Amino acid sequence: MIQVYPDPESLSRAAAALLVTQANLAVAARGRFSVALSGGTTPRRTYELLAAPPWVDQGPWGRVHVFWGDERCVPLTDPRSNARLAKEAWLDRVPIPADQIHPLNCARDPADAARQYEAQLREFFAGQPPRLDLVLLGLGDDGHTASLFPGAPVLKEGERWAAAVCLAEPDLHRVTLTAPLINQAAMVAFLVAGKSKADVLREVLHGPYDPERLPAQLIQPQPGKLFWLTDQEAAALVPAG
Ligand code: 6PG
Repeated sequence: MIQVYPDPESLSRAAAALLVTQANLAVAARGRFSVALSGGTTPRRTYELLAAPPWVDQGPWGRVHVFWGDERCVPLTDPRSNARLAKEAWLDRVPIPADQIHPLNCARDPADAARQYEAQLREFFAGQPPRLDLVLLGLGDDGHTASLFPGAPVLKEGERWAAAVCLAEPDLHRVTLTAPLINQAAMVAFLVAGKSKADVLREVLHGPYDPERLPAQLIQPQPGKLFWLTDQEAAALVPAG
C-alpha cells in the first residue's frame, strides 16, 4: 500500500505515528516490540519526532528492542554511522534500556560482524521465526534498499539473515539484513521523499520485476504488510490509484 503525504514533514509525522502504534500493539500482544531501523537521511526527522511530544510520551520504550537494517562499517562515532544517526536524533533521548539497543558494529571485520549480528538475532528470536515487528527502509535512487545494492551477491542470499557487503564506490564496507529476513517481518515500511526518487519509485512499483537492477523489489513480506510512505515529489510519477 502506498500513502502519499504533502511533504517530508507530514511523511515523517506519519512514520512516527506508525512506529508508536505498531509498538503499542506489539507490546500489548506479545510484551515487546522489535524494530530494524533504516539509515540514510530520510528517517532522521522521524527519529527526531519520536523523541518529542506527543510521540515521546506514547512509546512503550521499556519494551522496545532496536536493531538496524544495515550499517556502514565505520566507528559508531563516525558521522556516516546509521546507529549514530538514530542515537543522536532519538535513542539517546528515550528510556529504551541500553541492552535492548543492538547497534551493528562492523568497523573492524564486516564478515565477522555479520555473523555476530545474525547470532544476536537468533538469540533474540530464541528458535522462533525471526519476525521483526517493523522494518523501516529507505530507497536509494539506484533502487537499493538497506545495503542490498544492484548486482550484489547478497541479492541471491537465501539462508543467512545478515551479510557483509563490500562496496567499491565509495570504498565503504557494509553489513545488511538480507531480503529473506526482512521479508519475514510483520510489517515493512519504506520512507521515500524527494523528487530525486520519483523515477526509481515508479520503476520499483510499476516497472518490470528486475531485482538484480532494482533490489527494493525483493522486499515483499509475506504474510507481513508492506507500506510505502512517500511525499508528493517522490510519488509524482506513480500512477494514481
Ligand atoms: C543507508 C541506508 C540506505 C538508505 C537509502 C536512502 O545505510 O544508506 O540504509 O539504504 O535508506 O540509500 O537514503 P536517503 O534516505 O538518504 O535517500
